[in-house]
Amino acid sequence: MEDILRLENVSKIYEPHITALDEVSFSVAKGEFLFITGPSGAGKSTLLNLIFRAETPTSGEIYFEGRPLSSYKRKEIPFLRRKIGVVFQDFKLLENRTVFENVAISLVIQGLNEGEIRRRVVKILERLGLGGRETQLVKQLSGGEKQRVALARAVVNRPRLLLADEPTGNLDSRRTEEVMDIFEDLNAEGTTIILATHDEALYVDRHRRVLVLDQGRLLNP
Ligand SMILES: Nc1ncnc2c1ncn2[C@@H]1O[C@H](COP(=O)(O)OP(=O)(O)OP(=O)(O)O)[C@@H](O)[C@H]1O
Ligand SMILES: [Mg+2]
Repeated sequence: MEDILRLENVSKIYEPHITALDEVSFSVAKGEFLFITGPSGAGKSTLLNLIFRAETPTSGEIYFEGRPLSSYKRKEIPFLRRKIGVVFQDFKLLENRTVFENVAISLVIQGLNEGEIRRRVVKILERLGLGGRETQLVKQLSGGEKQRVALARAVVNRPRLLLADEPTGNLDSRRTEEVMDIFEDLNAEGTTIILATHDEALYVDRHRRVLVLDQGRLLNP
């Protein structure tokens, strides 16, 4: 199957001397649901940040749909990010804005009409068990609710690739199951998913490829 993503000898060094990623190479097939695991500090978040172009590699190259990320000019990056949804480990939500505003933001920027935005946002919030919470301020939500708002924001735009960094870290076991079911559904609908977690319960018995990072190195490329 065609690759949606390819990393070639990607390293990330934080000066003066932290090697967060060390010559990492792997490919992700279109439609795959891939897990990345490893202990705290292994480089999981760094890896996702590089794929989203929140940061750039110190050396090596990342290809998304065949195009090197280093070739994207600053003004093209928003177009790249429309195709890649992200659930950040620390959410990065706008705390003083409503749930609706947070989830709608990328659709508003793209200039979709108001009715279409409302329809899509309401639908995804209902799917994530947040129906009726549209007007609540994010700062008033629990950690688990914020996590689901972050997931809603990442997927409302129907990205081709979804990056999820510990997306169940604040959820109880029932909500974790629900969110994992949503990932499975999104994947069945064609979204490629890369999920980073240190929680092996998320991937055991799921029969998906699991990449293991340790001190910035891939143990099983
Ligand atoms: N902006 C930064 N500046 C300096 N060092 C950083 C930065 N971001 C990450 N690091 C370092 O890079 C290494 C990898 O960090 P990273 O956050 O990618 O790990 P992780 O696998 O996501 O860990 P966790 O499971 O705790 O989320 C760590 O040693 C970390 O301290
Ligand atoms: Mg992390």
